[in-house]
Amino acid sequence: MTLDAARELAAAELPDGRVLTVRPATVADAEAALDLIHAAFRARPVVGDRPEALTDDLASVRARIEHGTGYLAFIDDTLAGLVMTARQSGAMRLGRVGVLPEFREQGVASFLVEVVLEHLAAAGEERVQLLARKEFPQIQAWWGRHGFAPAGDEGNCVVMARSLPVAVEVPDAAAMRSLGTRLAGVLRAGDLVIATGDLGAGKTTLTQGIGAGLGVAGPVISPTFVLSRVHPPLADGPALVHVDAYRLGSFAELEDIDLEASLDASVTLVEWGAGVAEGLADDRLDIDIRRGIDPDDDTRWVFLTGVGERWSRDELAAAAKEDA
Ligand SMILES: Nc1ncnc2c1ncn2[C@@H]1O[C@H](COP(=O)(O)OP(=O)(O)O)[C@@H](O)[C@H]1O
Ligand SMILES: [Mg+2]
Repeated sequence: MTLDAARELAAAELPDGRVLTVRPATVADAEAALDLIHAAFRARPVVGDRPEALTDDLASVRARIEHGTGYLAFIDDTLAGLVMTARQSGAMRLGRVGVLPEFREQGVASFLVEVVLEHLAAAGEERVQLLARKEFPQIQAWWGRHGFAPAGDEGNCVVMARSLPVAVEVPDAAAMRSLGTRLAGVLRAGDLVIATGDLGAGKTTLTQGIGAGLGVAGPVISPTFVLSRVHPPLADGPALVHVDAYRLGSFAELEDIDLEASLDASVTLVEWGAGVAEGLADDRLDIDIRRGIDPDDDTRWVFLTGVGERWSRDELAAAAKEDA
């Protein structure tokens, strides 16, 4: 994922049919970006000092775009939101996160921030932070929902930080299988893996690689019509329990297929499990698979996030690397 400035990074359709897109900013966008920053920050309630963003001018915004990166969100062709990133004292920071008042409450900021975090992860960044004004606990709570936690104080701000997922570029189905095989090397009995991604993203293909790496009886195919399939080990090692939660609406329905009974002795992988399967275990490996917006490009990006003490980011990064 190289920074080809004019290229859209992601697109999503809003419920009313309008299209939300995100692309990096170029210096040619400086004036529009400045207008947006002023409009977005002027609309905030004033407490204490004037927000620093209101002192931005064309030269400073242009410099920020040149030395860091700006990301712009559009609704159809109208600029709606912006995030800037910059490296400050060794840390990658988000700043100037703003959405025009008329475009708030439509998911623009969430989509924009998720795209920016994935883009930073794909560029190899491991952590990201930002400053949140202490006077706005609701803003801290919003960042909390995006995985950020307080990590210190800086003046009238809380430093909020999070680690980024391990990102892996996967050019084709064979590469997806070998990623699965490498990941199997760090999986052990009791592990829960939740795989997310659109239909055809490659969840089952990745699981085939995991099954091969674990050395379980195959074939690993989509468990859509059976909900769950148990692949016993061919030699030593855990079984693979492969679950498809697509038709399951809730954790209660997932509990009906009684995965707890096999959880301790198996690696349990749940496709479409986000929002449904987290309750199965305290710790889990989240695997998000994304395809780009060009339908002719088979490249997938896989994002690995270990949740809980079981997982170390370094171990996942090592497993994700080829020739690991
Ligand atoms: N980079 C890639 N990674 C994974 N699958 C790919 C890739 N490029 C093409 N494909 C194809 O896309 C399809 C993915 O299907 P599948 O793994 O069943 O997806 P899911 O389980 O997420 O619905 C397969 O036909 C696979 O061959
Ligand atoms: Mg599948």
